[in-house]
Amino acid sequence: MTILVTGATGNVGREAVKHLLAAGQQVRALTRTPETAALPPEVEVVRGDLLEPETIVPALAGVTAMQLYAVPETAAEVAELAKQAGVRRIVVLSSDAVTDNHDDGFHLVVEKAVENSGLEWTHVRPGEFAINKRDSWSEPIRQGHVRLAFPDAKGMPVHETDIGAVAAAALMDDRHAGKVYRPTSHDTTSQREQVMAIADAIGKPVTIEVITPAQEKEDMLQVGWPEDVIDYLQSYFQTWTNQPPVARPDVAEATGKRAHTFAEWAVDHAADFE
Ligand SMILES: NC(=O)c1ccc[n+]([C@@H]2O[C@H](COP(=O)([O-])OP(=O)(O)OC[C@H]3O[C@@H](n4cnc5c(N)ncnc54)[C@H](OP(=O)(O)O)[C@@H]3O)[C@@H](O)[C@H]2O)c1
Repeated sequence: MTILVTGATGNVGREAVKHLLAAGQQVRALTRTPETAALPPEVEVVRGDLLEPETIVPALAGVTAMQLYAVPETAAEVAELAKQAGVRRIVVLSSDAVTDNHDDGFHLVVEKAVENSGLEWTHVRPGEFAINKRDSWSEPIRQGHVRLAFPDAKGMPVHETDIGAVAAAALMDDRHAGKVYRPTSHDTTSQREQVMAIADAIGKPVTIEVITPAQEKEDMLQVGWPEDVIDYLQSYFQTWTNQPPVARPDVAEATGKRAHTFAEWAVDHAADFE
């Protein structure tokens, strides 16, 4: 029995692969560039592009379950090809934006395509990834100074390994069929607490300067964040300043192990901030 992981070279896919290998599964990884995939040697790496569905047909041979990275343009065709190849189950790497009705035809399209295929499905809908903090804060934290517009906005940024663990569990066991999991970290932490958790993990003092949302937007634009994503994130940070979200039990329900706390993620990623 082979499990196919698409998106296997990504933040979540790499972790799903690790969990599957640890459980003794035979894993095949789809990538557009096998030469740079750098996956463990036990993984069978196969070239394919989800935007060109015919290229993934060889990767589907003998596969029972597949993790699907969201590519809406071709999701229906990919699901149909999977069905024809005898795949029984598809686990969609989706987004909690679907739950919140903020997904404008991206992950939702993929979820629906998979449901309509008649195959068993599980949707994994994470919210904010903790690893986004690496992209936003690694440089400021290296310099010992972080500018925040919403220091008291609470969130529950989830460790990529917990998302991968949920996906792996759903790939391996049909008790997850028809379920939607919304992985979050174990705890709810403010942005100020998150910065301090990283400072503790690297053993270095970091100061926080409170700035306006417009100044923060400018900072984020300068490091390459798309404007619509900044607006989307800032609207959440505003809401979460007034109404903190509540961490969910989905990781524990799916895997039997509690999710990591943000501080644990910071320890795992200390090297990214040093
Ligand atoms: N960041 C967040 O806060 C957040 C929150 C909720 C949901 N999400 C969703 O999570 C997903 C991102 O996951 P991630 O961070 O693990 O991914 P990532 O690190 O951005 O990596 C992208 C992966 O997708 C693969 N891929 C992309 N286009 C492909 C194509 N046309 N054909 C085959 N493979 C393709 C890449 O494979 P190769 O390059 O090797 O081909 C790579 O493995 C997105 O759908 C995002 O919307 C993100």
